[in-house]
Amino acid sequence: MKVLIVGSGGREHAIAMAVKKSSKVDKIYCAPGNAGIGEIAELVPIKPMEFDALAEFAVNEKIDLTIIGMDDPLVGGIVDVFEKKGLRVFGPSKAAAILEGSKAFSKDLMKKYGIPTASYETFTDLNEALKYLETAEYPIVLKADGLALGKGVLICMDKNEAIEGAKSIMGDKKFGDAGSTMVIEEFMTGREVSVLSFCDGKTIRIMTSAQDHKRAYDGDKGPNTGGMGTFSPSPFYTKEIDEICMEKIYKPTVEAMAKEGRSFKGIIFFGLMLTSKGPKVLEYNARFGDPEAQVVLPRMKNDIIDVMEHCIDGTLSDINLEFEDNAAVCVVLASDGYPVSYEKGKEITGLDAFNNRKDIFCFHAGTAMKDGKIVTNGGRVLGITALDSELKAARKKAYEATEFVKFDNKYMRNDIGMAFME
Ligand code: AMP
Ligand code: GLY
Repeated sequence: MKVLIVGSGGREHAIAMAVKKSSKVDKIYCAPGNAGIGEIAELVPIKPMEFDALAEFAVNEKIDLTIIGMDDPLVGGIVDVFEKKGLRVFGPSKAAAILEGSKAFSKDLMKKYGIPTASYETFTDLNEALKYLETAEYPIVLKADGLALGKGVLICMDKNEAIEGAKSIMGDKKFGDAGSTMVIEEFMTGREVSVLSFCDGKTIRIMTSAQDHKRAYDGDKGPNTGGMGTFSPSPFYTKEIDEICMEKIYKPTVEAMAKEGRSFKGIIFFGLMLTSKGPKVLEYNARFGDPEAQVVLPRMKNDIIDVMEHCIDGTLSDINLEFEDNAAVCVVLASDGYPVSYEKGKEITGLDAFNNRKDIFCFHAGTAMKDGKIVTNGGRVLGITALDSELKAARKKAYEATEFVKFDNKYMRNDIGMAFME
């Protein structure tokens, strides 16, 4: 088989590594990819939002399966463009990807179908939102409706902060059009867990759990990022919680989407908060998490292509997902200054230390080739993942491996995975 992957981050590198393990695959392409993905796939210089050019490439190269890694093209309807051309593609249609594309949609869906989540109000008018904030309880959470690279969420401790936040989202359009509509929701406390799943429109199969660290600095301080590190499994996500989630969240979500005429085929990523009143949904995503994929996929025993084909064909009920009985920790190496402003183009050295290792991986996120050298090309540069029999050992190994890699402005959090050692 020939497989095309659309995207260029650490998640797409993790997907490419999983695809490479499949006995069904002869050749991998990635558009546009990065320097690391380029070592196992042929890079195609087409941007993820150029749907027609990508579909034309898939037709001309006789691609058997295209996997969409990123949220933007999914929400923009790339799957519909591919399907119209009779191409096989893994990911939700535009109608289904709205689960991630609009927080107002997903909140209304959860309310309509009784899926546990924070209480909320939706606003399209700034003055109405400001009036609501006058009498609200604090802390409170403001969310830009649309996609904002995981950064469109503001947690406001008091009224003044919330008023400034609402003005920046809806007035100054800090997150662009994503902020034309804003959700204001109840602040929840508890452990966060990320649960990824495969869906075929009717059946859902849950992958092993993970936990992300979204804030930029140690101690969960600083601005929200796309994610600074992950570990898997989450020891807080017990079998009992999994059963509650299956009954109250996972199955109802898939059924709700089908009932709404938005049957979901692809990955649903459940961002959950384990509150004292039970698990509640923080957010849905319509794709693998980044850097969740970097700890979940290396632990998966199944052939990823086999699972994806069953999703497309609506036969996922024939598949049992299996994961290694081990643990993984991923530490993101970022450019200092991320997510606000940072320099690019710094040479990266030490990557050879990962060659031929089966217990440590270096997933490339923001990297590029320049004059025959690998250089930094983004905020999140690399994801260093280590596998071991349990989390503590995996964490130690991952941090040791971060020392192998050198580049100017290298920044990482030092407390990834501390939670499970408390
Ligand atoms: P989201 O993109 O919706 O997952 O939000 C990003 C991060 O903001 C989450 O991972 C949480 O840490 C935090 N967050 C979002 N919504 C809430 C909420 N209702 N209560 C507390 N924290 C939240
Ligand atoms: N790491 C969170 C996300 O991918 O949205």
